[in-house]
Amino acid sequence: MNTIVRAMEDIESDGKLDGEGHRKRKLSSRTLNHVEISNEYFKEIDSCRIGEKKSSLLEDYRQIKRELLKNMIGLDCASNDNLILVTSCLAGEGKTFTAINLAVCMALELDKTVLLVDADVVASSICKYLAIESSPGLIEYLKNNDRHLSEYLLKTNIENLTILPAGKPEVRTPEILSGDKMQRLAKELAERYPNRIVIFDAPPVLAASETNILMQYAGQVLFVVEAGKINAKLLKEAMSKMDVSKKIGMVLNKFSIEKKIKNKYYGY
Ligand SMILES: Nc1ncnc2c1ncn2[C@@H]1O[C@H](COP(=O)(O)OP(=O)(O)OP(=O)(O)O)[C@@H](O)[C@H]1O
Ligand SMILES: [Mg+2]
Repeated sequence: MNTIVRAMEDIESDGKLDGEGHRKRKLSSRTLNHVEISNEYFKEIDSCRIGEKKSSLLEDYRQIKRELLKNMIGLDCASNDNLILVTSCLAGEGKTFTAINLAVCMALELDKTVLLVDADVVASSICKYLAIESSPGLIEYLKNNDRHLSEYLLKTNIENLTILPAGKPEVRTPEILSGDKMQRLAKELAERYPNRIVIFDAPPVLAASETNILMQYAGQVLFVVEAGKINAKLLKEAMSKMDVSKKIGMVLNKFSIEKKIKNKYYGY
């Protein structure tokens, strides 16, 4: 079991008021909570390749990463293209798996920092996956006005990777996520540090209203489709709920070359 070393130190008040009338606190870099992600996790994910003998899972995520990074530059780039929402039609298609691996892969970029946000508040699982103790996060930050965002962030042993846990779900979760504070947070995350990439692990489009709320903040959407599970009708229904002004990419997940050959399925 990994341990969480709390390093909440040196919180100083500089006496100024922030936009919400609270005393601004100057936070030193040591105020972040630190979590250790075990190397075992990465050994495990590397052994979950499905039917792929040659390329490693990391290589697959590198390809997805390149496409997303390409969208962050160029003339048609929007200011929030560094905010990426990961979703799917239904539960269990691999959103969290994809969001975590993509975040780790993005964090390998030399000039980028990555914030992985567990925005699937009702079925949050990032902390569980990484075997780190869950702690208050997004929901508590949005509900309360007494703590700075930095106090909810978990700095990891992976250089450039920070996690914002989901926090405790509550009945008003959709209202909290659509509130002014969330909008301000998304704007700040998108605009304050251009080299920061924010990945939201969101609920499935067809199962939760929060996904549509969260989608409005992101510039890019990564849509995970589990091979063999989703039919054209479901996919069409999910697409009708998507905001087509966003850059939408699709990942065919849990796809097996062996399955493809067995089913005599070739082509696109
Ligand atoms: N590419 C993959 N290779 C191997 N296993 C995978 C892959 N993608 C997902 N899985 C496994 O499938 C299961 C479901 O994945 P995951 O939890 O990421 O789905 P999800 O879409 O986030 O589900 P939920 O909607 O419940 O949050 C997990 O056991 C995960 O380890
Ligand atoms: Mg999940």
